[in-house]
Amino acid sequence: MGGNFATRVSVMESPRVEKPHALVAHPDNAIVWHEDQLFLLDQRALPAETRFLVCDSAVETARAIKDMVVRGAPAIGVTAAYGVVLSVRDHFQRSPADWRPGVEQDLGLLAAARPTAINLFWALERMRLLLATIDQLDPVPALLIEALRIHREDVAANQAMGDLGAALIEARTDVITHCNAGALATGGYGTALGVVRSAHAAGKIGRVYADETRPWLQGSRLTAWELDQSGIPVTVQADNVAASLMARGGIGWVIVGSDRIAANGDVCNKIGTYGLAVLARYHGVGFMVAAPTSTIDTRVACGADIPIEERAADEVLSCGGTRVGPEGVSAQNPVFDVTPAELVDVIVTERGVIERPNAEKIAALMGDD
Ligand code: MRU
Repeated sequence: MGGNFATRVSVMESPRVEKPHALVAHPDNAIVWHEDQLFLLDQRALPAETRFLVCDSAVETARAIKDMVVRGAPAIGVTAAYGVVLSVRDHFQRSPADWRPGVEQDLGLLAAARPTAINLFWALERMRLLLATIDQLDPVPALLIEALRIHREDVAANQAMGDLGAALIEARTDVITHCNAGALATGGYGTALGVVRSAHAAGKIGRVYADETRPWLQGSRLTAWELDQSGIPVTVQADNVAASLMARGGIGWVIVGSDRIAANGDVCNKIGTYGLAVLARYHGVGFMVAAPTSTIDTRVACGADIPIEERAADEVLSCGGTRVGPEGVSAQNPVFDVTPAELVDVIVTERGVIERPNAEKIAALMGDD
């Protein structure tokens, strides 16, 4: 998988710990601001290798997002916020009287890193709003406080969603999840897997079936590692197993995250989510989306207006770095799809739960945002 920039590696064992220390390789440590440096747990290498990559500049941060060292909608938002801190530090040190143009350029680079997850643009907008009001001599401390706040708020939102989502699960059941919407994809705790964590703690989860999530294998590499680290029973399955698993019975819910939710409740998430929602409705299985309000984009009317990232064909034509498709054959690799709101049973946010989402309910939840 891509990415060739220098890594300063710190490899550590991954103990089962509730509150990991800063640089222990643990799902809750996907993004760490430590001693004035940004550390990212390299998700391209997990689970075979646990290493942190240090980003010293906004340019390195943007590249880390693009190359998926860090991925998952809330996680790339949090990371981009720290990227702005690095940018301001860099340009202010070099040119205390004229640092803003360089930062403006970096904001553009960070925004161009990936197109679909709205959390990236949401976090940059928060940092930009603060930048506009800053007039003190050294702008870095205030920006760092804001980035840390964005990070902390994300974890708190996930914990709140975890409890709200878990309360919707009436009896102990098995669930299916897709991609990785866990601690690794967020500031910590996770969205869909946050619900799973809270529900598991309440004795409501028998087993999690994790779709492997071709082509990047977020499910078999990241979700399986993360759930195993948390002591939650997990079985990895090929993406095409879900239908027969649901038909067999015993699956109460499909629980997924989202990269962007439109004003009408359409849900954009990892490619394959739409198919799962269709299957869930057919089989009478609940379909739950867990996402913070920073994932809701009231500026796009419906899912068709959400830009869908297309990644390299090589990701599809290869597996684990080995070419499997014939040379010269083309492949398509749209990495997200849109699930129509009518197939969604419930959206869980930190502000509350929306059953059978529609435009009115989303507007009421978002208020004046
Ligand atoms: O391409 P990725 O790995 O960034 O895609 C991530 C997903 O689709 C997640 O399911 C989504 O961001 C929700 S994460 C809390």
